[in-house]
Amino acid sequence: MNASEIRQKFLKFFEERGHVIISSSFLVPEGDNTTLFTGSGMQPLIKYLLGESHPAGRRLVNSQKSFRAEDIDEVGDNRHTTFFEMLGNWSLGEYFKEEQLPWFFEFLTDIVGLDPQKLYVTVFAGDKENNIPRDDESVAIWQRLFKEKGIEAKAVELMNEERGNELGLQGGRIFYYGDKNWWSRAGAPAKMPAREPGGPDSEVFYEFLGVEHNTKFGAHCHPNCDCGRFVEIGNSVFMEYKKLENGTFEKLEQKNVDFGGGLERITAASNDSSNIFTIDLLAPLVERIRSGATDSNERSERIIADHVRASVFLIGDGVAPSNKDRGYMLRRLIRRAVTHGHYLVGLPTGFLSVLIDAVISSYKDAYPDLKRDREMIREVFEKEQAAFERTYANGIKEFEKLLVKGDVISGADAFILLASHGFPLELTEELAARAGKTVDRGAFAKEVKLHQEISRAGSEAKFGGHGLYLRTGEVTIRDESEVEKVTRLHTATHLMHAALRAVLGPEVRQDGSDITVERTRFDFRFPRKISPEELAKIEEWVNGAIQRDLTVKWEETEYEEALKEGALGFFREKYPPRVKVYTVFNPKTGEVFSKEFCGGPHVEHTGTIGRFHITKEESSSAGVRRIRAQIE
Ligand code: ALA
Repeated sequence: MNASEIRQKFLKFFEERGHVIISSSFLVPEGDNTTLFTGSGMQPLIKYLLGESHPAGRRLVNSQKSFRAEDIDEVGDNRHTTFFEMLGNWSLGEYFKEEQLPWFFEFLTDIVGLDPQKLYVTVFAGDKENNIPRDDESVAIWQRLFKEKGIEAKAVELMNEERGNELGLQGGRIFYYGDKNWWSRAGAPAKMPAREPGGPDSEVFYEFLGVEHNTKFGAHCHPNCDCGRFVEIGNSVFMEYKKLENGTFEKLEQKNVDFGGGLERITAASNDSSNIFTIDLLAPLVERIRSGATDSNERSERIIADHVRASVFLIGDGVAPSNKDRGYMLRRLIRRAVTHGHYLVGLPTGFLSVLIDAVISSYKDAYPDLKRDREMIREVFEKEQAAFERTYANGIKEFEKLLVKGDVISGADAFILLASHGFPLELTEELAARAGKTVDRGAFAKEVKLHQEISRAGSEAKFGGHGLYLRTGEVTIRDESEVEKVTRLHTATHLMHAALRAVLGPEVRQDGSDITVERTRFDFRFPRKISPEELAKIEEWVNGAIQRDLTVKWEETEYEEALKEGALGFFREKYPPRVKVYTVFNPKTGEVFSKEFCGGPHVEHTGTIGRFHITKEESSSAGVRRIRAQIE
């Protein structure tokens, strides 16, 4: 069966059982800033699961566009994608386990036609600490359902992945696990914040008989093993608990069912193909990539297919590339797609447009808006691609220089590639791997941290409200986007220092500065208030320097020498005999705009800084003025 048929059949199956079909929400959650993206069908329904009444009733069904940034590193294998469609059905305080499990089993076996011999299920093992019992009710229902198909379903306790790999299947068909079988937006019971709903869940796995267990994942295989033999195709969450302020759990007033199943994975199972990239929604895309590429590489093909598809949907739902949060995620997807497509498998210029068309044509019936927005989507892609290609050209030159240094690219070098050329760590790693080298990840993370400490940009507070459910993948993004923003503000600060001297006179003396991801703050000795006209001139001077797209370079030199050449320093600082000096200059005329002692990093070209504006001017202490400024 193809994905459209399965989508249609799922909706119809539940419609026949009293459910109302609701439309897919946007990938950007509306009125909910706890998550960056809609990553499951239940997210837009939180308040209804907590008891508010839904206008469409108490039985709902849909296919929800979902995006999980945290899976980006898994993309490239045969089953992970960042974007996917989640088939979902919900009971808002109506039916419970006794209806849900038989319905889903019937859908899988009778409608989709999966062989019940290849289905395995997992259930919640209980949580003594939080007084939540083991889910023996679900076990009894599953045993009955399998028995009706002539299968004796033995229940086995595995608890966690380590035990699973140690003990293996042991002839079981139903497996008890702990935290793995509890679902909430934040994960396990202990990780949930107060007021969050959650509950035990029961997952169904499909066994791909063609996939042999690989002992690299553990001695024995079990449903939650990562070897790819068992793939999860649906999860029924029995959402009947809520965490309280005091950390204990209480039952919600209504018992809910929150079911989610990956459309692509169910389709792959229906074709008995363990590779989801072979299904009708993705195969044409992979085909076009393969036929256009000069080098074949399966992992790259899948990354390009996933990232282009995800970007099309994100742009369609209103995300624009930027240096923050959602926009940064989109930027990262486009950069990776371009890197793999253009630079790693040799797709021709213009390949993105062809792939965008392929995505839209696979989805035009289910998501007609994509067709309407085609030109807008293409424009956003192409602009971002062009911008990246400009910085990529310089970055790759830097990168090539690093290759002769040795087999391991140092954390500091990887950091410079990020800060000055916008190369995310994974891109540097990818390029390094292709050249048979590695990157010192640990040292890179330390560099990022060090830089954050220096710029004091690492605090949670600045991301308050966004950070609640961010998982590992997004934390990296956040760090990387911070570094880029701070780097741009850092160069802007040098320009502002020069502008202050140009407008107010050379007696201006830096007294301190502090850069965060939001703004730069600059203190300097000056005897009086700065007038609004002067502030406007300073802004104009800086923006003029940004628009000229000046070049930024650095060199190491003798401190005394640099001082003679007029390099500016922070007068209270003691400098070592050899120092790094950053110069911002016009490469055509040689005109120098700024020259300062500084450790860096800075942007390579001022054009990437963005628009500069001063937000505040005030007195800091006697004889010291303080200016705050931002970039857009
Ligand atoms: N909300 C559940 C999940 O995402 C169904 O797995």
